[in-house]
Amino acid sequence: MKKEFGSTPPHIKEEWPGELTAFSWQDFVAAIPTALFLVSTYKDNGKENACLQAWSTFVGDGGEFICILGSVSKRGHLYKSLLQTKECVLNFPTADIYQKCELTITHNGYDDDEITKSGLTAEKAISVNAPRIKECFLNIECEFLWEKEHYEGCRDVVIALKAKHLSMDSDYFDEHKKGRYGKTGFMFNIHSPRNPETGEISETCFGAIEKYR
Ligand SMILES: Cc1cc2nc3c(=O)[nH]c(=O)nc-3n(C[C@H](O)[C@H](O)[C@H](O)COP(=O)(O)O)c2cc1C
Repeated sequence: MKKEFGSTPPHIKEEWPGELTAFSWQDFVAAIPTALFLVSTYKDNGKENACLQAWSTFVGDGGEFICILGSVSKRGHLYKSLLQTKECVLNFPTADIYQKCELTITHNGYDDDEITKSGLTAEKAISVNAPRIKECFLNIECEFLWEKEHYEGCRDVVIALKAKHLSMDSDYFDEHKKGRYGKTGFMFNIHSPRNPETGEISETCFGAIEKYR
């Protein structure tokens, strides 16, 4: 039976103070999975920056491949460095290297070479001035197009990028080898799904695409 939810269901509670203002109750009730990747840039001191991202989407339009970063924090290094350099790389990890990707959050100091310090390999991009991550099976080198606030005074912005160059491991673009999907392919972020009737919280976790048709 379909249920209607127009405001915060009474059973939905914060797991930590401020959670429902940092995110939204609708985020947890809808719990729509999105692809997970690392955006890499150079900070203004020349050090590598890497920022895990979800809540994004990708579209081909008129022959251009447009990457929409759905929620970039205005307070992070990514926002600052991307506005300065106007270039970045989107790096798609597989589950076996995720722990190293997550370490980029720990090694997030201004003076940190975040990719190298997290046990990953930074290599030169082909078409942009940004590092790219060797261990990721897909790298999309991008240039900045525009940014827009979600609404006035919000915390995060939407950023549109235009792809300039793709680098992809042949084992992943060959669907008869590893392929792009399943547990060895693209990772999806599943952000703490909640039952709005009972308040039951499922842990944030990662998922894979299962092809069924
Ligand atoms: C699974 C996961 C997904 C994330 N998605 C985003 C995101 O979409 N946007 C964002 O601004 N931060 C996101 N973060 C948090 C940033 O990766 C983290 O705060 C990072 O250290 C900020 O890096 P920066 O200072 O280079 O911007 C995510 C973190 C995790 C663990």
